This record gives sequence, C-alpha cells and structure tokens, in this order.
Amino acid sequence: MKVLLTGGAGYIGSHTCVELILAGHTPVIADNFDNSCPEAIRRVEEITGVNVKSYELDVCDSEAVERMFSENDFDAVIHFAGLKAVGESCAIPLRYYRNNIDSTLTLLEAMKKHGVANFVFSSSATVYGVPERVPLVEGMPTGCTNPYGWTKLMNEQILTDAASADAGLSVVLLRYFNPIGAHESGRIGENPNGIPNNLMPYITQVAAGKLSRLGVFGNDYPTPDGTGVRDYIHVVDLAKAHVKALDYAASHKGTEVFNIGTGTGYSVLDIVNAFMRVNDLEIPYDIKPRRPGDIAECYADPSKAEKILGWKAEKTLEDMCRDSWNWQSHNKNGYDPD
Ligand code: NAD
Ligand code: UFG
Repeated sequence: MKVLLTGGAGYIGSHTCVELILAGHTPVIADNFDNSCPEAIRRVEEITGVNVKSYELDVCDSEAVERMFSENDFDAVIHFAGLKAVGESCAIPLRYYRNNIDSTLTLLEAMKKHGVANFVFSSSATVYGVPERVPLVEGMPTGCTNPYGWTKLMNEQILTDAASADAGLSVVLLRYFNPIGAHESGRIGENPNGIPNNLMPYITQVAAGKLSRLGVFGNDYPTPDGTGVRDYIHVVDLAKAHVKALDYAASHKGTEVFNIGTGTGYSVLDIVNAFMRVNDLEIPYDIKPRRPGDIAECYADPSKAEKILGWKAEKTLEDMCRDSWNWQSHNKNGYDPD
C-alpha cells in the first residue's frame, strides 16, 4: 500500500516508516519538522536502503495537503502528527486543539475527496483518564485530565463519526501505552527538545552525564514499591502494530479501537534498576514529591489486539533499556552533530 505518514519524521513515525518498508509498503512522509528534523528521514533511508518521498508541510494547511493528495494515489493514512507535551497543553491549550484537531479534519476532507479509505490514528492511554482499575480494557470509561488528552479523545470521536457516516471509510484507533527504546541499529530514536518530561529519556540523559540526577516523582503510591507503574512498550513493537492495523483497515469497514501495550506494568524503580543492570551503569536518583496529574498505575489488557490484529509485543524490558541507551550513547545530541 502507498501510505501517507503524517508526523513520519517523529519518534514513532520514523520507526513505523522502517517497519512499513520491511513489510513491502511504500510510505510517504508529511511533516512540518516542528518536533523533528529531515535527518531522521535520511536515517530511515540509510537503515532500509530505500528512498522515502517526503513533504515539508503543515497538515493543517488544507491547500498543501490537497496538492500532496493530488500528486499521490494514497491507499491509507497513518496520522502521527500532533503536539504531545501534557504540561505544555495546559499552558497553551488553543494551539493544541488547533493543531491536533484541525490536522485530522483536513486529512479526512482530503481523503473523502480523493477516495482514500483507510485511516490509522495515534491515540493514547491517556484517554482512560484516572483508571478505576487495571488492566485497561478498550470498553472502559474514558475521560481526560488535560487538553492534550482531550485532543486524543475528540479525535477518536471525530473519526468514529466520520466512519459512521461514510460506509467506505475504515478507521483504526491505536491507544499507545508508554513507548520507549529505539531501533536496534541505534540510528533512529527519541529526540526530545530541552529537558525531557518522560522517564526513559531522562534516565538516558543522566547516564550520558547531560543531567545530574533523576527525580523519582513519588514513592507513596499504592503500588508494590510505591512508585508509579506504567506499561512500557518497545517502539519497534509499537511500529509493527501499525503494519497489522493497516492490514486490518484494508479488510474491514467502520471503527475499531485497540490498546497497544505489553500488558505488564513496571514501576519507576523497576525501570531504573533494569537500566542500570542491563547497561552496567549507575543512575543516581532522589525521591521527589508526586508530579501533579500523575496516576498510580496504568497498564493495558492487550488481548484484543492479539486476537483481532494478530499483534503481540515481543521485546523485553531488557531490550528496551539496551536499545534506549544504544541510541543515546551513539547520538549524544540526538540528530544534531556531536
Ligand atoms: P513526535 O513529536 O516525535 O512526532 C510527531 C511529529 O509530528 C513530529 O515530527 C512533528 O514535527 C510532527 N507534527 C506535529 N504537528 C504537525 C503538523 N501540524 N503538520 C505536520 N507535522 C506535524 O511524537 P511521537 O512520540 O512520535 O508521537 C506520535 C504520535 O503518537 C502523536 O500524535 C502523539 O500524541 C502520539 N502518542 C505518543 C506517545 C508517546 O509517549 N510518545 C504516547 C501516546 C500517543
Ligand atoms: N517519572 C519520574 N521522573 C521523571 C519522569 C517520569 O519519576 O523524570 C515517572 C512518572 O511519575 C510516571 C512514570 O515515570 O510514574 C512515567 O512517566 P512518563 O512521563 O514517562 O509517562 P506518563 O505515563 O506520565 O505519560 C506518557 C506520555 C503521555 C501519554 C501517557 C499515556 O507522556 O503523553 O504516557 O500514553 F498520554
């Protein structure tokens, strides 16, 4: 299939681009490089040995999107493009709503006009809000605690409504849990701007000496060791789920939603200890107060994805820790030259 990847130069998009090429698809990237750079696409080409067509454009720019659809006969769209920082979304909510919602509407309109039938959307476990219980199952109540999360839930609704009204449209909503790790080549990986918000990039930057100590946000949660529990998933496993989602979309109509996680919850200290053990490194840390907005536990029941998509995460926590460090240690400044 010829597949448009919006946000394809980003962390998850670049890994998915590699897996799509390996599976025989032809990805085309559209990215405004707001949180990425062309070098990521060049590295995807280096890994795969395949040239990747790309457009530098804002997916909210309907004229630019229309031109791109006129020039390409797409079979499917995977919509990764979006702003994703929870804290920032509380500070500048309108920018988040404009970017994350407008982009979806613009794509849906272009798809309708050009007869493109398959849409895979990057949703998030954040749509479950504060879970009543874990593991999380797709049918459980949704609700959000920040504007970023609301953009995901609103997009799920928009896409569901669009598919209800258009018998030709197929929508797959993928609710990602916590992606970490990097491609085993160490050539592509997560490249956060400034001081990382997320746990694994913070750990790798402490390991690299760029940051001095990790702060562990709370050790008084009702979890086995008191620190927050999440479902960390290797980004390559996550990327492979998109290949399965495309196959599913191409052979079904309507909307389907899937949790994309491993089903196992690890605490912050589990991650720190595994990282130190696997990479033979010390990560100095201090226990800090809880981070506002954080929940105690969040992990998936991923059995629907296994049953219906035929997808299951395969990589271990050790793989995630090793590959995260392999990427960071060989790319001290991410995609910028050392
Ligand atoms: P990322 O920031 O690395 O990638 C997003 C890409 O979209 C970037 O390359 C950015 O430049 C691009 N982009 C943003 N707005 C755009 C626009 N209007 N037009 C064109 N390009 C635009 O983020 P990621 O971690 O790869 O996340 C991909 C998707 O998955 C996002 O929608 C994110 O919300 C979602 N998601 C991520 C996580 C996570 O923890 N990384 C978890 C759940 C869901
Ligand atoms: N944590 C620390 N110290 C840090 C960073 C994080 O102790 O420096 C802890 C957090 O308190 C939490 C765990 O590590 O217990 C994971 O935190 P992350 O920030 O890595 O991930 P979150 O689960 O908070 O959020 C992520 C994405 C969201 C997404 C959510 C669910 O950032 O966008 O997963 O998919 F919505």
